[in-house]
Amino acid sequence: MKISCFSLWNIQSMEKKLLKLKEINSFLKKINVKPTIFIFPILFGLLAALFEGGSFGLLIPTIKGIIEGNARFVHDMPYVSTIFSYIAPEYKSRSIKIFIILVLMTFSCVVLKNIFQYLSMISTSFQVWRFSNILRKKIFERYLDFGKLYFDQNNIGRLQEILTGYTRQVALQLKDANNCIYSILVLVIYIIIMFKISWKLTIFIFIFSPLFALMMKKIIDKIKKSSDDYIVNYSSLLKNLSNSLLCLPLIKAYTYEGDEKKRFFKESNLVEENEFAIDRQRELITPLNEIFVMVLILFLLGMVTYFIYIQKEGEVAGYLVYFVILRRSIGSFSAISRFQAIINAISGPVGEISTIFDNADKFFMHEGENEFTGLKRKIEIKGLGFSYPGKSSGLKNINLTLKKGEITAIVGPSGSGKSTLLNILMRFYEPSSGSIEIDGEDIKNFTLKSYLSKFAYVSQDVFLFNDTFKNNLIYGLENISDDEIAKTIKKANLEDLICKLPHGINTDVGDRGVKLSGGEKQKLSIARAILKNADILVLDEATSSLDSLSEKQIQKAIHEVSHNKTSVIIAHRLSTIKHADKIVVLTEEGIVEEGTLEELLSKKGMLYKLWEEQKFF
Ligand SMILES: Nc1ncnc2c1ncn2[C@@H]1O[C@H](COP(=O)(O)OP(=O)(O)O)[C@@H](O)[C@H]1O
Ligand SMILES: [Mg+2]
Repeated sequence: MKISCFSLWNIQSMEKKLLKLKEINSFLKKINVKPTIFIFPILFGLLAALFEGGSFGLLIPTIKGIIEGNARFVHDMPYVSTIFSYIAPEYKSRSIKIFIILVLMTFSCVVLKNIFQYLSMISTSFQVWRFSNILRKKIFERYLDFGKLYFDQNNIGRLQEILTGYTRQVALQLKDANNCIYSILVLVIYIIIMFKISWKLTIFIFIFSPLFALMMKKIIDKIKKSSDDYIVNYSSLLKNLSNSLLCLPLIKAYTYEGDEKKRFFKESNLVEENEFAIDRQRELITPLNEIFVMVLILFLLGMVTYFIYIQKEGEVAGYLVYFVILRRSIGSFSAISRFQAIINAISGPVGEISTIFDNADKFFMHEGENEFTGLKRKIEIKGLGFSYPGKSSGLKNINLTLKKGEITAIVGPSGSGKSTLLNILMRFYEPSSGSIEIDGEDIKNFTLKSYLSKFAYVSQDVFLFNDTFKNNLIYGLENISDDEIAKTIKKANLEDLICKLPHGINTDVGDRGVKLSGGEKQKLSIARAILKNADILVLDEATSSLDSLSEKQIQKAIHEVSHNKTSVIIAHRLSTIKHADKIVVLTEEGIVEEGTLEELLSKKGMLYKLWEEQKFF
């Protein structure tokens, strides 16, 4: 009964392991990496293991030669005599020469073993780091393909860790796994030699080993649990870290450093506990192995004494080598458990990386095939609906026509969906229902590149790279001359600011442009749109942080560049929407009013009310 339980457990755990290997294999398939990249490391490992076995096999006659003071017996030994008849047939009786050749052969085996082991290690290292690099690049490519909603919903710290940390962890584990495979190959060779020397002793070892394996399984399961806990706690730590760093000014303003510190310390301590638990459990494997093997050796010594002196069976040289091999196999035995531990430890990061490669909830944008050559007549928003995941509210049945060459202003209370509407127009979000058509063609049918090249967009939140002012200004634009840059700077009223900057236009703006004021950042991003000189201008509260004088100047510049262009602007100041050909009032109920400023003000409806209450956002 016990045996059947044990074998049942064994089959189940084997199945689980195979499943994990299958998972890893399907993961490799997903990222288009063939498992064959590990053929060379394993092949070299196999050759090294064979030579390692050879060197031990040759030790037996060498030691026997020393003990007996004569090495002529090699001609009667299987394998060795065949080798001798090939390489030194003339030394049939010269004992000392035979002995020297034996030593040289053993030495050559050791040298070859080390050469192949080195080749195995460096080919592993080459493949593993290449693999990690491929993985990093593929993940980055995937990130660039995901829709904006994916980033709205996922923590940036975690996404960074997947790309940099987990890819490295997987690589390190794979490297270790390959070392284990090598050790297991060596173990197989050792076992063959051990069987050859004494099958009785070896069978005895095989009866005792499963007991030990059972004990090891407990430790390995613990490692798996600690590794899973580690992933959970570490992700949470990263999430809170990026939150804290991004909101540092808020923390300072509310003097919340103490609480932030407490929370971070608590999570950091948890991570430390997990890290220590994993090491504590993993490091147990080797000493336990060693103690087990020592106990085993003591048992075996008793048996050997019995075989040699009572049963007169076997030779001292053979048994000596047997023990040397057994001693050496400690590391190889533990490689089996280490290999299992690695498969368990790798499953956490591989699982996280795998989520990047499946297509669920990535909000990819539909990419059409047609080239967008430019707006000819009008943009029609037809029955457009959109809701954010998990939210019931959103845009409902929006119908709107934007005519070429006209300025359309969208106003409405905060949260009514103005930015969302422009985000759909800018192809950040896919509408849930309805469509946007340009001259009768659904915008989904255009390639994203050709479509967006005709738009100059200033978003509500300004996005700036941690780079120079100039590089931020010309980001995404090609063949921009210094003359054009100078003109744009003048238009956008940025001359004074650039004069003040320590390195002028080549000054770094800091993370997200922290070294600039809100208004300066907006001016820079408007300048970028002016410089792009695209047919369709889309401005989302682009001047909200500017003082009224700056706004007037910028407004003039925008007015100049929007001449002959089609513009959609979201604004909250009368001065901004004054020049609009059409004003659209958007509320949570949808578009409630549409018309020129005079029409809407005289109508004394929603726009009039908003204006009265100064609630233009
Ligand atoms: N990324 C997002 N995920 C979920 N909900 C969002 C997201 N962005 C905006 N919302 C919600 O959608 C609604 C409309 O937002 P938005 O278009 O930014 O409004 P407006 O620009 O008119 O102030 C708001 O209720 C807001 O809370
Ligand atoms: Mg908005």
